[in-house]
Amino acid sequence: MENQVFIMDHPLIQHKLTLLRDKNTGSKEFRELVGEIAMLMCYEATRDLNLKEVEIETPVGIAKTKVISGRKLAFIPILRAGIGMVEGVTELVPAAKIGHIGLYRDPETLQPVEYYSKLPNDITERDVIVLDPMLATGGSAVDAISIIKKSKPKSVKFMCIIAAPEGMKALTEAHPDVPIYCAAMDDHLNEHGYIVPGLGDAGDRIFGTK
Ligand code: PRP
Ligand code: URA
Repeated sequence: MENQVFIMDHPLIQHKLTLLRDKNTGSKEFRELVGEIAMLMCYEATRDLNLKEVEIETPVGIAKTKVISGRKLAFIPILRAGIGMVEGVTELVPAAKIGHIGLYRDPETLQPVEYYSKLPNDITERDVIVLDPMLATGGSAVDAISIIKKSKPKSVKFMCIIAAPEGMKALTEAHPDVPIYCAAMDDHLNEHGYIVPGLGDAGDRIFGTK
């Protein structure tokens, strides 16, 4: 199976991404932009939700119309930076459950280190969207999705804001069944594993650390 990869180049997303990349954008605005971009991306990532017909009464008559047909979603942010995307996506899907996977990259080896995992107990009934603004070497996303798959969700999608070609390759090779949604594919990784031109350290910029 080959991954579906969606690069979301909608003008609103691209405009907000430009502001996000700017080194002069402070934490408050950065957090707001991450949330807004995640919301816009979620709109597209939920395009395949199933609908069913219902009949309702308008003030004028009967309408045969549609509602989402009971498909259950779970959003799973990769800590820390993925948390910045949660508010935006839950604005659109308030009934979704939220799981958490805690991973950090060892700065020397760039290998992900797991420190936390708490997933919804009915995850086998849910379609999962994993959230992380950055796909760099891909190590964090690959490991997070492997952990999540052990709990047997109905399906898994991955949503990031900026991807590097290296991370995209690693993720598609490790999880060819997972559709990937991102707002931009950047040029390369530098010697410290940062995406170039990227936006710097997403977690530090969201939480104002460093
Ligand atoms: C960042 C980012 C991703 C990871 C991407 O997290 O949020 O999770 O790096 O890099 P990779 O694709 O090479 O694994 P980081 O490890 O800096 O942790 P933090 O979010 O807690 O700051
Ligand atoms: N993690 C980040 O936050 N930024 C990068 O550029 C790479 C990994």
